[in-house]
Amino acid sequence: MKFGKRILEQADRLAEFTEDEGRLTRTYLTPKHREAGEQIAAWMREAGMEAGFDALGNVVGRYAGDRADAPVVLTGSHMDTVVDAGRYDGTFGILTAIACVQDLHKRRKRLPFAFEIVAFCDEEGVRFGVTLIGSRALAGRFTPEMLKARDKDGVTLKEALVAFGGRPEAIPLLSRKGIAAFVESHIEQGPVLLDEGLPVGVVTSIAGASRVKARVTGLAGHAGTVPMPGRRDALAAAAEMALAVERHCASRPRELVGTVGKFAIAGGGAVNVIPGSVEFTIDLRSGNDAHRKAAVAELQVALNEIAQRRGVTLDWDLFFELEAMPCDEALQAALAESVKAHGVAVRHLPSGAGHDAMELAHIAPMAMLFVRCGDGGISHNPRETMTAEDADIATSVLLHFLENFQPPNP
Ligand code: GLV
Ligand code: MN
Ligand code: MN
Repeated sequence: MKFGKRILEQADRLAEFTEDEGRLTRTYLTPKHREAGEQIAAWMREAGMEAGFDALGNVVGRYAGDRADAPVVLTGSHMDTVVDAGRYDGTFGILTAIACVQDLHKRRKRLPFAFEIVAFCDEEGVRFGVTLIGSRALAGRFTPEMLKARDKDGVTLKEALVAFGGRPEAIPLLSRKGIAAFVESHIEQGPVLLDEGLPVGVVTSIAGASRVKARVTGLAGHAGTVPMPGRRDALAAAAEMALAVERHCASRPRELVGTVGKFAIAGGGAVNVIPGSVEFTIDLRSGNDAHRKAAVAELQVALNEIAQRRGVTLDWDLFFELEAMPCDEALQAALAESVKAHGVAVRHLPSGAGHDAMELAHIAPMAMLFVRCGDGGISHNPRETMTAEDADIATSVLLHFLENFQPPNP
């Protein structure tokens, strides 16, 4: 096996850069972000690339093309994680690409394009609630408003970036143009390839997403003295709303999925107090933007009806919307050829998860290669797993794609 074993060892090594004892959590602009980024940059240099942090905390590695004015092909994925994460989500897409460059470099082979790998600084949005930060900057879609986002301690993204050594004023310069292709490899994070016995698959499109912050305000009161009929319990109302979200999405299984992922009583709650204020989030995903937008509108109406009936108020903040993104047909076909060349049946499949590729699709033809996810396809969970054999095949497929890709003439 040429690549797989080392990639899994490197993923284990990166999982050691964690903010939490005993579990993997690595968020944006933290000391562990820096340490992981330095390790990635060191591997990039060892593989024959120039590498370093950019103004926003992305790590960018460049393997020069066969001539100075060669076009650029980009790849990459994210180096941040969710809380208590698996070790391949994001990381794999960085490591597999470094392995390809290392192999090319060993063979002294240059490509008819400069190949750049980006370890994106923040895709998950855990610390500041803003997702796809690194890739948005490259796509020229980072807005100054995003610098005002605050973490749970009230630190703004701008303050944290300056403390990290980043340069907020230079963010507009990160925006890229004239990129010949963006190709991201990623663990599937679902069971399709596993169920069908396939190591890799070609992504057709990436689902769009809508996210809502909901606040339910009722009336706090004494748990022992307020009669049940008159209560305006914010938690009971919010719980009914969460179940309504689940019911709505479950009744449209082909159209969308929906998740209430955060749910908290303001101030933490107390055993003897009727909850007066509860906040929760709703995440809706669909490959079809019309279905997703209809669900947002219908749920807002349905949840307001619950609020009215229960004598509470509902604040509804639709704070994030991302359109579904189709992958480029020609790049899908080229990836499919590389899959076939490895004797693997070509499986096309959509992505329900979001990826940095969605942002890069605004400035370049975009494609994604999925790798089988073990253990039932579980992800955003420490049980997330892949085999060295699959990592090996996926890396060979990416390398084959790169060695056969002819960028169009500018
Ligand atoms: C990223 O992992 C997302 O799809 O939320
Ligand atoms: Mn993720
Ligand atoms: Mn990911």
